[in-house]
Amino acid sequence: MATTVVVTGVSGKMAKETLLALCKAPDLEPIGAVSRHAQEEFLALPDGSGLIPLATDAQSLLHRLRPDVVVDFTSAPYAVAVARAAIDQGVRPVIGTSGLTSSEVEDLTARCAAAKLGGLIAPNFALGAVVLMHLSAVASRFFDHAEIIEMHHDAKADAPSGTAIATAQMMSRAHGGPFTTPQTLKETLPHPRGSTVGGISLHSMRLPGLLAHQEVVFGSAGQTLRLRHDTLNRECYMPGVLIAVREVMKLDHMVFGLDRLLGLVG
Ligand SMILES: NC(=O)c1ccc[n+]([C@@H]2O[C@H](COP(=O)([O-])OP(=O)(O)OC[C@H]3O[C@@H](n4cnc5c(N)ncnc54)[C@H](OP(=O)(O)O)[C@@H]3O)[C@@H](O)[C@H]2O)c1
Repeated sequence: MATTVVVTGVSGKMAKETLLALCKAPDLEPIGAVSRHAQEEFLALPDGSGLIPLATDAQSLLHRLRPDVVVDFTSAPYAVAVARAAIDQGVRPVIGTSGLTSSEVEDLTARCAAAKLGGLIAPNFALGAVVLMHLSAVASRFFDHAEIIEMHHDAKADAPSGTAIATAQMMSRAHGGPFTTPQTLKETLPHPRGSTVGGISLHSMRLPGLLAHQEVVFGSAGQTLRLRHDTLNRECYMPGVLIAVREVMKLDHMVFGLDRLLGLVG
């Protein structure tokens, strides 16, 4: 039997991509959608295979449809409300929305544990980005100097990116302490070396034409090592989303991060 899924925020880019990916997966079935400004009662599936119920209120739709999983790519306070409503009704939350606070993550983790329900909160669903972080942590054992350049589209609200900060934190843990940061004796303009996390300088580039890119550069005498991931379009997130929808069905607790779900970290 197919795993049934409700998707929230379906006027958004990630939710639309998710619906399409679910339509293409024979073992998964999108059965409902939520959009706060919905005017219609049904939504046409993006592959033209039919109509699914569309509602403005996630809680009542989850109650009515009782899906196995809800996938949320919206905004932080709303995503938390969706996840709480889902857990209350025995629906497994897969949350891709950025910007949840650590106390919100802790709260949702405790709720899933109490309900013995699987769930996932993943700040990054791009498999390549998750693998880049893992490989960066491996290389961190062998280098004392590293810098990160993250490059994003010009509409990105925050800098440095959450992924760059998380990568630097992971690298410094794997390195066993802060990296060595060379001292700049004369700064001719303010902050030329970017911000620093764990001794690693983070540089943020914002340009139209970019989507999401990250390069980790290690250096030691006579050599550099560059690890780079490029997100070319939102399709790149979908294999990770589909893995999450399938895997939460086997869990009885909340997992934070696709890397943990994939077994890349303990
Ligand atoms: N984990 C990952 O790998 C990953 C990858 C890409 C993006 N993201 C995150 O996913 C989220 C969505 O990204 P996107 O590119 O799809 O953005 P988007 O195109 O702007 O879509 C956001 C959607 O969320 C809805 N929404 C926002 N605030 C809401 C609220 N308070 N109540 C109800 N609905 C609300 C919007 O509805 P309206 O149309 O009515 O405003 C819209 O449908 C962001 O947090 C983004 O950072 C995560």
